Amino acid sequence: MSIKIGKNILKELGGYLRDKNFNRIYIITDDKVNELHFNYLKNILKGFDLRTYILPQGERSKSIDIVLSIYDDLIENNIDRNTAILSFGGGVVGDIAGFVASTYKRGLKYIQIPTTLLSQVDSSIGGKVGVDYGGYKNIIGSFYFPEATFIDPYFLKTLPTRQITCGLGEILKYGLIYDYELFEYTKDRLCNIYEKDLDVLLPIIKKSVDIKEEIVSKDKYDLGLRKMLNFGHTIGHSIETYYDFTKFNHGECVILGMTYESFIGKSLRLIDEDYFDEIYRTLKELMTPIKFNEEEIHDLMDFMRNDKKNIGENIAFVLPVGRGKVDVYYDIDDKMIINSLKGEWI
Ligand SMILES: NC(=O)c1ccc[n+]([C@@H]2O[C@H](COP(=O)([O-])OP(=O)(O)OC[C@H]3O[C@@H](n4cnc5c(N)ncnc54)[C@H](O)[C@@H]3O)[C@@H](O)[C@H]2O)c1
Repeated sequence: MSIKIGKNILKELGGYLRDKNFNRIYIITDDKVNELHFNYLKNILKGFDLRTYILPQGERSKSIDIVLSIYDDLIENNIDRNTAILSFGGGVVGDIAGFVASTYKRGLKYIQIPTTLLSQVDSSIGGKVGVDYGGYKNIIGSFYFPEATFIDPYFLKTLPTRQITCGLGEILKYGLIYDYELFEYTKDRLCNIYEKDLDVLLPIIKKSVDIKEEIVSKDKYDLGLRKMLNFGHTIGHSIETYYDFTKFNHGECVILGMTYESFIGKSLRLIDEDYFDEIYRTLKELMTPIKFNEEEIHDLMDFMRNDKKNIGENIAFVLPVGRGKVDVYYDIDDKMIINSLKGEWI
């Protein structure tokens, strides 16, 4: 799999596809990306036989119903194994397109063009594809790696502020789990990032992709080291599910999750006050933490108990243990979790 990153790198897509002898391309995108950027892509793909499937933007589209409807469209259009599937959009489009590519006719080649900051630094790397089902996120899915990923920061220019926050959450996560320097570098440049200064964003994207690739290459199928990427996700996923995937985006929930989970780390004296303050002050700038009431905490705990990362009854937590370092724990006392969610420390 090759990952190509750079300003205007997408201009190389046509040549790449010709070299690989793909002349039929099946593009999966969402209505927003289609409206903003399809013409740009179409110009780059002049001369190719294109067919496009447009799904409604948002997490609700990451469903088995949409997958079935794409299968119908693929069959109706006689799409065969010589066609490349091209995912053009954020993480929702990428996860669905990859899942369709991995299952239709036992696997079609696919190429990712991530257009959100989150998908450029995270979801387009690592081969996890799938859909939500029965109220559970990503519960149906597989591992399927794209032939190539083209990461072009050009697309970020149209990205709304909230989506920048989501990507920033994952970038700061890489810093906190693996590379404290990246955390420091990023937190000192939040303004430039929100202003979409590509000279600042590009090296941060490259570093984030390197980190994710390195972690994934050591644990392709998520059996060990990759678990560290779930920092912020135990509590984050429960918040995302509690609000039925509507109130907050995935990346926003990860930021909240990292805040509460860092508090647990501090309460267990895994990290010192100074480091906790540094994490807390940075994350608070992106997302204001919530003080949950008893009823809400009860529901959040239930969602955490159903998390697929758990072993038996024990909820899995990735907690900070030092600057740029985390570890996995399965024995966190419920009281500790409840205390962090009550937020009396906020
Ligand atoms: N596969 C993985 O390893 C992995 C990792 C992290 C997250 N995810 C998944 O990714 C999804 C979240 O991804 P996301 O944050 O990219 O969300 P998204 O795909 O829903 O995109 C967010 C919004 O931004 C819009 N958008 C996309 N590109 C744009 C652009 N250039 N300009 C303006 N608007 C644009 C979209 O239309 C959408 O409304 C979740 O489903 C999450 O579970 C997967």
